[in-house]
Amino acid sequence: MAARKRLICRTSELEECGSGVRFVTTDKNGEKLPGFVIRHNGIVFGYVNRCAHIQVELDWQHGEFFDADRQLLMCATHGALYAPNTGECVGGPCHGAFLTKLPMIEEDDGVYLVN
Ligand code: FES
Repeated sequence: MAARKRLICRTSELEECGSGVRFVTTDKNGEKLPGFVIRHNGIVFGYVNRCAHIQVELDWQHGEFFDADRQLLMCATHGALYAPNTGECVGGPCHGAFLTKLPMIEEDDGVYLVN
């Protein structure tokens, strides 16, 4: 089956290490999944918006995922820190666990979820 892509936002909406864009997708069973996309080192990365520690959303304000240094993603609940490019927890209660990645592409001035 051919991959489908869904426009999530325009390229200009994702600044380097800036605010993320939240969206809702579904898993393979049709259950709703909260997702988000951010830009890091010029590349867009998408993840399910659920901490690897406890399944709560990460953002400390709507769409705000980066820590104060704007280098790592941070969970608002207990402060787990994640590498933006891999989703690996590099500090905090779920050290070594990973966020669930969502496949994203950027083309034609748009950021797309691919599934
Ligand atoms: S729920 Fe995210 S660090 Fe505990």
